[in-house]
Amino acid sequence: MYRSHTNAELRATHIEETVTLAGWVQKVRDKGFMIWVDVRDRYGITQLIFDEQRTPKEVMQKAKDLGREFVIQVKGEVIERESKNPQMLTGDIEILVQQLEVLNSAKLPPFTIEDQTDGGEDLRMKYRYLDIRRNPIKNNLIFRHQVTMQVRNFLSERGFIEVETPYLIKSTPEGARDFVVPSRMNEGEFYALPQSPQTFKQLLMVGGMDKYFQIVKCFRDEDLRADRQLEFTQIDCEMAFVDQEDVLNVFEGLTKHLLKEIRGVEVKNFPRMTYDDAMRLYGNDKPDIRFGMQFGELNDVAKHKDFKIFNDAELIVGIAVPNAADYSRKQIDAIIDWVKRPQVGAMGMVYVKYNEDGTFKSSVDKFYDAQDFQQWAEKTQAKPGDLICVLSGETSKVRAQLSALRMEMAEQLGLRKADEFAPLWVVDFPLLEWDQETETYHAMHHPFTSPKVGDIPLLASNPKAVKANAYDLVLNGNEIGGGSIRIHDKETQKMMFDYLGFTEEEAQNQFGFLMNAFEFGAPPHGGIAFGLDRLVAILGGKETIRDFIAFPKNNAGRDVMIDAPAPIDQAQLDELSLALKS
Ligand code: AMO
Repeated sequence: MYRSHTNAELRATHIEETVTLAGWVQKVRDKGFMIWVDVRDRYGITQLIFDEQRTPKEVMQKAKDLGREFVIQVKGEVIERESKNPQMLTGDIEILVQQLEVLNSAKLPPFTIEDQTDGGEDLRMKYRYLDIRRNPIKNNLIFRHQVTMQVRNFLSERGFIEVETPYLIKSTPEGARDFVVPSRMNEGEFYALPQSPQTFKQLLMVGGMDKYFQIVKCFRDEDLRADRQLEFTQIDCEMAFVDQEDVLNVFEGLTKHLLKEIRGVEVKNFPRMTYDDAMRLYGNDKPDIRFGMQFGELNDVAKHKDFKIFNDAELIVGIAVPNAADYSRKQIDAIIDWVKRPQVGAMGMVYVKYNEDGTFKSSVDKFYDAQDFQQWAEKTQAKPGDLICVLSGETSKVRAQLSALRMEMAEQLGLRKADEFAPLWVVDFPLLEWDQETETYHAMHHPFTSPKVGDIPLLASNPKAVKANAYDLVLNGNEIGGGSIRIHDKETQKMMFDYLGFTEEEAQNQFGFLMNAFEFGAPPHGGIAFGLDRLVAILGGKETIRDFIAFPKNNAGRDVMIDAPAPIDQAQLDELSLALKS
């Protein structure tokens, strides 16, 4: 038996008991005649005391050689501590050590293994196993486990069956590049790793599984960001004989359950917003609705004067930043510089101070009068004391720019509170999206999403106007899930591939298996996939998913601990019939 108790277990009630503990040395305080050692494991910390008077001499000697992160086992008596520490679970007691076994020595760790560490991101990633010993990371992994268990239990109790689908497959288009795996046995041929199990879960519905879920790795070769990894985990779900309302209800239920069980937060029914409204009011399809600052479109009230920039613009749109009318010239210049950064890309910004006394002061006083500004204030719902920030330009660009500014101002004003949760369904997404580069239409969600039946006739005349039975679940400005009702008949699916520019042969080659399956009695079906990493991070009050993943990749897509990706040797290349570009 390595240990009788964990390092978080012992209390005053255990005094006089003889116990065996094991763990890592967190700290040693050597006073010569007395040595205190903090021993740590996953559960907590216990203080050990080695006392010249009461501890055997050779044990005392061994204790003097202990270093940080040594792995030890001790046997001793639980005694009352002289100076108690109410901050620690075991703060009432200490262990008077009689036996000490060094199970393993340790090199000096490259950073301190404490809540506040001196280790930078790169170093912590290189020695991730040491980072995991620290509470912040360890607790995030435990938190992730708790969320995952809640999800599994919730879905399982409601009749969902977890089914594993293969990783070595053929491309499943979700809008990113595929990771491919060469096949040794089939020269010159490749598997693709799934960007999602989309086609398989649909086939499971054809197979009559009725309610499926899977907590599953997905692989997407795309640029990394705080909320994106190359491999990430989905809670992937699908249901047969459902319409959109059924799917939204079940997964609203799951999200409410998680908020309640994990965070103790009760959220009533989730609001819903159409994609068009989200774009018009927030310039974004994943609006953070924890705070206001809705967009006010000003075309009607700003194009009647001689201000050429506005007169030439497709869209003039503003937000009212609360209580910012008294910002200094310097503060406002900083905002203007911020929107002009290449990452945001605005040409400039017009501002109007709506002073507490009801007067206005703006950067365009030359062109507009108080009556005009009064109308701008109404459109942006500005109150006296607010600062109205106005951008103009091409609709899609200016919306994205103002959306970025809205989030930045909310961040600066502390309006994005980590312990407040504001879920939102965004519904009625467009079916198709125009790709400037390739000059073709792409499926906005994926090509298996069903158009709204009434919109099908528009496909030929006005494809952009066709809406899909597609929905996203947004939490605090993050897309945590997305799904749709699927096409379940071969003809419609063929028509979709046709609109997406696939030749019949290409469609048959890539997705023949699915269209064939649709000929064998496919039920109506639909589903959703949550991004588990994002969901966990947001429930944990953060937006960086890396901290909730045991072994994440860095922003260059590298695992710096195992040093991957890495070259492979010539023999392996030959075996796979691969040649490197010289
Ligand atoms: P979608 O592509 O919207 O839908 O993905 C579902 C959810 O997965 C998360 N996500 C990611 N998380 C971390 N890193 C990434 N690179 C990443 N990419 C996506 C997001 C997203 O909402 N098959 C469909 C679902 C369906 O139609 O049922 C799909 O994969 O939180």
